[in-house]
Amino acid sequence: MTVRAVVRGVGHYLPERVVPNSEFEATIDTSDEWIKSRSGIERRHFAAEGQTTSDLGARAAEAALAHAGLGAEEIDAIIVATSTADLTFPSAATMIQARLGMTRGFAFDVQAVCAGFVFALANANALIVSGQARRVLVIGAETFSRLMDWTDRGTCVLFGDGAGALVLEAQEGAGTPEDRGILATDLNSDGRQKDILYVDGGVSTGTTGHLRMQGKEVFRHAVEKLAETAHAALDKVGLSGADVDWIVPHQANIRIIEGTAKRMQVPMERVVVTVQDHGNTSAASIPLALSVGVARGQIKPGDLVVTEAIGGGLAWGAVVLRW
Ligand code: UT7
Repeated sequence: MTVRAVVRGVGHYLPERVVPNSEFEATIDTSDEWIKSRSGIERRHFAAEGQTTSDLGARAAEAALAHAGLGAEEIDAIIVATSTADLTFPSAATMIQARLGMTRGFAFDVQAVCAGFVFALANANALIVSGQARRVLVIGAETFSRLMDWTDRGTCVLFGDGAGALVLEAQEGAGTPEDRGILATDLNSDGRQKDILYVDGGVSTGTTGHLRMQGKEVFRHAVEKLAETAHAALDKVGLSGADVDWIVPHQANIRIIEGTAKRMQVPMERVVVTVQDHGNTSAASIPLALSVGVARGQIKPGDLVVTEAIGGGLAWGAVVLRW
């Protein structure tokens, strides 16, 4: 028998304020038409003043726990993927642990920017298959609106706030690709690419800083690397694009999503797309899309799901799981 990390529950939370593309037309030289055609984004949610990443993450976690029919005391570990923790430390994960009333187990953040949720899933899987935790709450939560330079039209129209969460649980499998749960992971990074996507603040500057991106360069890497990492993960379990029921990609740009699906030879009818409603929510985008995909009735138990993401670092990777 093989231990598998199986999804037991999923949930998400989006802040109330919805910002349509047209709102930016008043302050910067842009248009709804440009944003929609170049990125696929139509609207995004922004956190209210005082509403933090741990607030959003805790709401998503509560939804995932309710969906799983579990209480916080039944969770062994919390991993939060985020680049926008409320404070430099402690982690957003320990803040969420306290908010959930969880007084045992352990909690920590994973920082791999837009690829963070994929990295967090791989870490949760490792904890579960090695017997260090039985149930892990994996959360992606971000308030990227706090990192925007509102005068930079090349970035400020692209990002949004939100959170999504999964409850993963140890269950026995047969050790075959038919098992439910995480089947394979593939993680990569290349620190030489720092300058194409970074935040120009932190403890070295004494400021929070703003997001800086060479969009075209990141786009080029994304199209090349995402299908590659998804194929690498599928290869590990002897599967291919033809076996995939749903690609649940990082939601940065509809053109990247379409390009990756094409390279994987998966039709767009089998891709969960939320970028039009959420914008790029960095590490929150995949758990948000998983939760929305389940709520829409797209993702069903037994479906083969591939998630893939790339972001600052660069860091990129993919997870293959059977829902
Ligand atoms: O999640 C982390 C990973 N991030 C990504 O995956 C993002 C990857 N990159 C992208 O999604 C795209 O590169 C963007 C959506 C950011 C930009 O699309 P693009 O087709 O690469 O456009 P561009 O940056 O080459 O800009 C084309 C033109 C430029 O004008 P000129 O120089 O050709 O006159 C820009 O100044 O569009 C201009 N532009 C805008 N125009 C209206 C840039 N931003 C805007 C804007 N509104 N908001």
